Amino acid sequence: MRQSSLVVVANRLPLDDNVAPDGACEWRRSPGGLAGALHAILEQTPSTWVGWGGGTGPARDLPDIGSLRLRPVSLSEDELRGYYEGFANSTLWPLYHDAVEQPVFDREWWLAYRAVNRRFAEAAAEVAEPGATVWVQDYHLQLVPQMIRELRPDVRIGFFLHVPFPPPELFMQLPRRLELLQGMLGADLVGFQRPQAAHNVAQLAAKLLGTRGADDAIILDDRVVRTGAFPVSIDVAEMRTLNARPYVVNQAHQLRHDLGAHKRVLLSVDRLDYTKGIEHRLTAYSELLRDGRIKVRDTVMVQVAVPSRERVESYRGLRDRIEREVGRINGEYGRVGEPAIHYLNQPFDRADLAALYQTADVMVVTPLRDGMNLVAKEFVAARRDDTGALVLSEFAGAAAELEDAFLVNPHDVDGLKETLLQALAAPPEELATRMKAMRAYITSNDIHAWARAYLTSLEKPVLVP
Ligand code: ADP
Ligand code: F6P
Repeated sequence: MRQSSLVVVANRLPLDDNVAPDGACEWRRSPGGLAGALHAILEQTPSTWVGWGGGTGPARDLPDIGSLRLRPVSLSEDELRGYYEGFANSTLWPLYHDAVEQPVFDREWWLAYRAVNRRFAEAAAEVAEPGATVWVQDYHLQLVPQMIRELRPDVRIGFFLHVPFPPPELFMQLPRRLELLQGMLGADLVGFQRPQAAHNVAQLAAKLLGTRGADDAIILDDRVVRTGAFPVSIDVAEMRTLNARPYVVNQAHQLRHDLGAHKRVLLSVDRLDYTKGIEHRLTAYSELLRDGRIKVRDTVMVQVAVPSRERVESYRGLRDRIEREVGRINGEYGRVGEPAIHYLNQPFDRADLAALYQTADVMVVTPLRDGMNLVAKEFVAARRDDTGALVLSEFAGAAAELEDAFLVNPHDVDGLKETLLQALAAPPEELATRMKAMRAYITSNDIHAWARAYLTSLEKPVLVP
C-alpha cells in the first residue's frame, strides 16, 4: 500500500462516476463547495484523498489526478441510505442549519454512520505514512478524528467543518451528542467557518465533558484541542483563467443576447437544497412582478438549481414545490418567447458557470443558513470589470467577509424585495466601489491562503498546560 504524508478524508472524492448518455463511464468533478475547494489545492500536492466515489457496491480503482492519489471507500445500498441520506443529510444537515427543516432521529441510521466512519478511519490509517498529517472534512465524518487517534496515535489530525456548527440548545437535541462531540475533539485542530462555531463548541465541551480552556483551546484530559475560524474560499486564479477564455467570453455574449440584450438579469446558482432559500426568493420576485415594480419586458431571472440528494424525501418535496412555483410565475407573468424565469435543473461545467456569472446584473445569493457559500465568491471572481451587484444573505458565512455586498435577511420577504430593487437601481459608481473592495478581498483570501492558514496552524506545536 502506497502511503502519503498528507491524507485528506472527505465523504466524496473530487470525481463522480457519471454514466454518459451512450452508457460509457466518465468521471466529472463533484458538485458542491468542498470538492471544488480541496481539489484546487491538492492537485499539485503529493497527497492521498480518501472518499466515496459515488454509487454502491465494491469500489473501483481510480487513476491519480496529478500528484493526488485517490483511495475509494465503498458503500452498500443500506449504508448509503443510513449513513449519507439518513444520519448525515436528514439528521445532522438540517440540525446544523438552524433546523430550517425538521431533523429526523433514527437509531438505525446512527449504526450505519458509526460503521462507515470506522471504514473511513481505517482507510486513512492505512494510507498515512508515519507522522503524517490527516485532515478530516465535514459533518459526514465527525467520529473519524477520534477513531484515527486510536488507530494511529503518531499522526497529526485536523478536522474542518464546512457547514455551520449549531448553537448548544440545538446540538443538545441530538441523541448521540456526546459521541459526536468526542469524535470531533479527537482532532488536534478543529476548524470552522466562523468564530461563533468555536464558541459554541467550547460551551458544549464544558457542559458535556467538563473541559476547561477557552474558545480557541479546549483542555480535554491531558490534551489541548485547538479550535479556530478559517473561512474557506475559491480558486481565484482558476476563475481568472476561465474568464479570459474566448469560449467563456463568447458564451457570455451569446447568453446576454438570448436573454434579451436590453434586460436586467437576476441570477441564482444553488444546489437544490432547502437551506438555499430558493422559495423565499421566488416569492419576493413573484410579488415584485405582481406589484408591477419590475416588468418581464425589462427584467429576467435565471435560477440554476443543480439536483442534489434526490432520494431524500425533503429534497424531493422541495423540488416539486419549486417547479410548481416556477410554472405558476411563468404562467402568470411570462409572455410568448419571454419567460419571467429560466429554471435550469442541471449541472454545468466550470466554463459555462463562469459565462453565466458574467451575464448577471444582480447575483442573488440568499440562503437561510450556509456555512460559507462559494457561489458568492465565484461571482465576484468571475467579473471582468467593476459592474454587477451581489445580493447576499446575512446568514451565509460569506457575509462576514463580503461586507460590500447588498446584505439582506432572506426570511424578511419585504426586505428582500427592497434590496433587490436597490441593487437593480444602484448607480454604476456605487457598484464599482463595492465590486473593487470585494475583488480585492477574495484575491488576497483565496483557497491557497485558506489551506496555508489551516495547515500552518495544525503543524504548530502545542504546549500542554
Ligand atoms: P454547497 O457546498 O452547499 O453546495 P457552495 O455555494 O459553497 O454550496 O458551493 C457550491 C459549489 O457547487 C460551487 O463551487 C458552484 O460553482 C457549484 N455548482 C453550483 N451549481 C452548479 C451546477 N449547476 N453545476 C455545477 N456546479 C455547480
Ligand atoms: O458544503 C457542504 C456539503 O455537504 C459538502 O460537504 C458537499 O461536498 C456539498 O455540500 C455537496 O453535497 P453532497 O456531497 O451531498 O452532494
